[in-house]
Amino acid sequence: MSLLTPTMPNTPQHLIEADGLSMQYTIGPRQVTVLRDVNLRITAGTRVAIAGPSGSGKTSLLLLLSGLERPGAGSIRVDGVDLGSLSSDGLADLRRERVGIVFQSFHLLPSLSALDNAALPLQMAGRRDARALAAAMLERVGLGGRLDHLPSQLSGGEQQRVAIARALVHRPRLLLADEPTGNLDDQTAESVRELLFSLNRELGTTLVLVTHDLDFAARCDRVLRLHDGQLHETPARQPTEASDALPA
Ligand SMILES: Nc1ncnc2c1ncn2[C@@H]1O[C@H](COP(=O)(O)OP(=O)(O)OP(=O)(O)O)[C@@H](O)[C@H]1O
Ligand SMILES: [Mg+2]
Repeated sequence: MSLLTPTMPNTPQHLIEADGLSMQYTIGPRQVTVLRDVNLRITAGTRVAIAGPSGSGKTSLLLLLSGLERPGAGSIRVDGVDLGSLSSDGLADLRRERVGIVFQSFHLLPSLSALDNAALPLQMAGRRDARALAAAMLERVGLGGRLDHLPSQLSGGEQQRVAIARALVHRPRLLLADEPTGNLDDQTAESVRELLFSLNRELGTTLVLVTHDLDFAARCDRVLRLHDGQLHETPARQPTEASDALPA
């Protein structure tokens, strides 16, 4: 069964436009500045890797782009929508309809099976075929035999793949993924890379991937590096047809 539908019309040229972003965390009297005056344009349908040392703010940047945190200053447009103009309910609607997020620590619901975790975004949208589509996506990440397992009954890599299935099941316009291959063996990591790239090709899903995986980053269109609160473009190897032609 194909999970795939054509991309929606009216996609703006830049799926993400962020200007003058800054972010601080305050702990007691101390302020930690994580991002300072970050500007970012990500063309719709492209694949962008974000690299940088531990603590440089990669997860924080993804939280801002998903609207789960608000910036101290600056503006963010996602798919043409100004996040600053939305209430928290509006941000939740935007995520449910157009954004998939793979969290660094998965954030699966412990009392729900793999199938119910993966079906959640579609169930929240009232889709009656939620479980069937979630089962197909879990099959695609190699977990067809684990549908009824609770997160505590899954390995770390399996939990990560449930999180990936949950992020993709509603076929988002934008996927924000925090080290999506971080806990996986080489073979499973390659199947996850192939899945993400094939969705990018087939659906035009824009991929923003925080990754330390050099092979993954090299196969993206751009690699951005966070350092000292700022984003720098780094030269990315142009993907060749051979290395980029991935099976669906
Ligand atoms: N909730 C928070 N409260 C206070 N400080 C925080 C909070 N979350 C993150 N930080 C601090 O902000 C900085 C950036 O954290 P962030 O998680 O974005 O880094 P990262 O680049 O994703 O690191 P890693 O590669 O280790 O995942 C760190 O120095 C961290 O200590
Ligand atoms: Mg992180």
